[in-house]
Amino acid sequence: MFKILEKEVLAKGIKRINVKAPMIANKTKAGNFIILRIDEKGERIPLTVADYDRETGIISIIFQEVGYTTKQLGSLEVGEHIKDIVGPLGKHIELEGYKKVVCLGGGSGTALLYPKVKAFYNKGSEVIAITGARTKDLIILEDELAEISNKLYIATDDGSYGHHGFVTDILKDLLEEDQEIDLVVAIGPVPMMKAVADMTAAYGVETIVSLNSLMVDGTGMCGGCRVTVGGETKFTCVDGPAFDGHQVDFNELINRLSFYKDEEEVHQCRLDE
Ligand code: FES
Repeated sequence: MFKILEKEVLAKGIKRINVKAPMIANKTKAGNFIILRIDEKGERIPLTVADYDRETGIISIIFQEVGYTTKQLGSLEVGEHIKDIVGPLGKHIELEGYKKVVCLGGGSGTALLYPKVKAFYNKGSEVIAITGARTKDLIILEDELAEISNKLYIATDDGSYGHHGFVTDILKDLLEEDQEIDLVVAIGPVPMMKAVADMTAAYGVETIVSLNSLMVDGTGMCGGCRVTVGGETKFTCVDGPAFDGHQVDFNELINRLSFYKDEEEVHQCRLDE
């Protein structure tokens, strides 16, 4: 059992919980994720470890309430418990050899971006962070990102805060002006990551994306999370979730993510009744 020590609402429908999980905190690196199950009969859901403290043994999990399980997770209060947390899972990202890194997060993808920004910054890279959302109220982790980056840009679709437009607009300007950028990390909705990868390919800048495939076991056995990268089948849970953005078959990923759309809509209607 894993006790919830703190809980915070970061934006409408986006929450952060801090959980005591010393063994996971001790082994997690940027890019790893966990799979949790709230109770005996619960669904297993993968979530990125947004932050971890090896000394206190506390991990932070940030999630958007988009379905039954994430809403159930969001309803748990401080002092309540999560039945199982398995992790760290997946491969951590390599930090060596990058002088200037641009990290972009879209929507709740910013939560997944945060540990990467922190890791590159602590490693000594110059880090430019870009975060965006539909509107100002959905921007998360602004203060935290400002603390661990050399420069932070913000974009909102409706222009209510920062640049009026998309994170990719800011990236394009940076790529035009700065030939020193040697890595771009993009995490967010798949169309956004695809747009970034298409853009950076034209500038010849290495790009990492973090894929949000459907997962079941998280150990490479079920095949549910398979993606095509560089023409080869890869499992997001054990080979990723971070991959070379220029090699990912995004169209196949978009198709696979919509595979259970009808069932999800039916389930959501039942929950709303
Ligand atoms: Fe089953 Fe990756 S979740 S193989």
